[in-house]
Amino acid sequence: MAYFILVFVAFGFISQIDCNSHYDNYTLIRLHPSTVDHQKSVTEFSDPSGEIEIMKESRGVNDTLDILVPPGKMKFVHDYANTNGLKLEEKQPNYGRTLQDVSERLPRRRILDRFSVFHYNSYDNMQEFIEGKAQRYPALVQLQELGKSYQGRKMRLVKISTRPNAKNPIIFVDAGVHGREWVAPAMALYLIHRLTVDPTAFVKGGELDGVDWYILPLVNPDGYEYTRSSRSNRMWRKTRSKHGASHCYGVDGNRNYGFKWAVSGVSNDPCHKETYAGPKPFSEPETQMVRNVMMDNAKRMKLYVSLHSYGQYLVYPWGYTGDFLPKQWKKLDDMARSVSNAVERAGGRPFKVLSAGKWYPAAGGSDDYAFGAAGVPYSYTMELTEGHEFAFPEELLETVLPQFYEGFKEFGARIKAEFGRQRKKREIMDTQ
Ligand code: ARG
Ligand code: ZN
Repeated sequence: MAYFILVFVAFGFISQIDCNSHYDNYTLIRLHPSTVDHQKSVTEFSDPSGEIEIMKESRGVNDTLDILVPPGKMKFVHDYANTNGLKLEEKQPNYGRTLQDVSERLPRRRILDRFSVFHYNSYDNMQEFIEGKAQRYPALVQLQELGKSYQGRKMRLVKISTRPNAKNPIIFVDAGVHGREWVAPAMALYLIHRLTVDPTAFVKGGELDGVDWYILPLVNPDGYEYTRSSRSNRMWRKTRSKHGASHCYGVDGNRNYGFKWAVSGVSNDPCHKETYAGPKPFSEPETQMVRNVMMDNAKRMKLYVSLHSYGQYLVYPWGYTGDFLPKQWKKLDDMARSVSNAVERAGGRPFKVLSAGKWYPAAGGSDDYAFGAAGVPYSYTMELTEGHEFAFPEELLETVLPQFYEGFKEFGARIKAEFGRQRKKREIMDTQ
């Protein structure tokens, strides 16, 4: 018996060490391209051994490639930078320690894994939270079962409306298509929280007056839970599906939508850890479900926002190309700027506003699909937070989420002003 306990304890101890030490001696390196040639060398950067983790891909001249480099690969990276004349910045010498320092705690390190809107919550806790909302506010919150993720996790759309039969314009917000971007689902849950408890949301002119909010807080629950399962999986981005004979897992959900699928910014290699577009458009059950929400509600859906991290960007179509913009780009741009201003007024940092493709072209994104295929007139990808890369400190959620919320209020007000019932009535009167 004692022997068993000993083995058990020793095993637990070893796995704990293993888990905590991952990324410990890794350096976060930033390669700065400043010419077109540099940029090319940065996009072509690859590590045949697969040990280097890509944090952020190159997104055009003057936009950095951020990588996590193990000690044994430092020379390789320095040599690459030298040969290509790239400026190399060693951002953080011990990335693993930072992960710990920012107290982005894994669930098992918490004594009680309790829900809070200012925590990074587990999938299960998120489900409990939305179920609780539906039970407590049955007239306001409706859950729609969309189906199951690849690994069988239930996906539910949270519909918040004071007048579900009024045919209000719909704002659709989703989050967490990329596993490691934890702040995104945290924001989506915070939205649900505020829209259900804020007295000002219900008054005339409030967020719920004449606008319905549909929120899917976690598009990729399998990938998300995988990033929570151990520190070494923390940087996982894709889904967890398997296709064909490949031994590799996952598809980049945001390259998987069936509009201009795979024409730019994707990989065709199932083993590519970042941007594998999948064997065909909508190969993933998760992206199919988001598509269905868009298509089923296409007529009333006036705004779509997909939450990601990181970088404090608010980008609009087209994402598949940077060569041209949709003809309505000015309206998209205007709304984004007023949202950014609202966040700034609340003490937050402004967003960089531009088309996704001018930032860096990448096809098969949900934003392009909403705009180009479902005909949603306003469609955005919102990249939350600047600094801290994917490991945004949990204790700062309390500061930033309310700031971003002010941006959503502005979204709501604008959508209501342009598509709300009052407006329609006014138009009829004007033309009479
Ligand atoms: N960081 C996001 C991604 O790479 C940006 C997506 C922007 N939209 C687009 N269609 N490229 O998925
Ligand atoms: Zn993302």
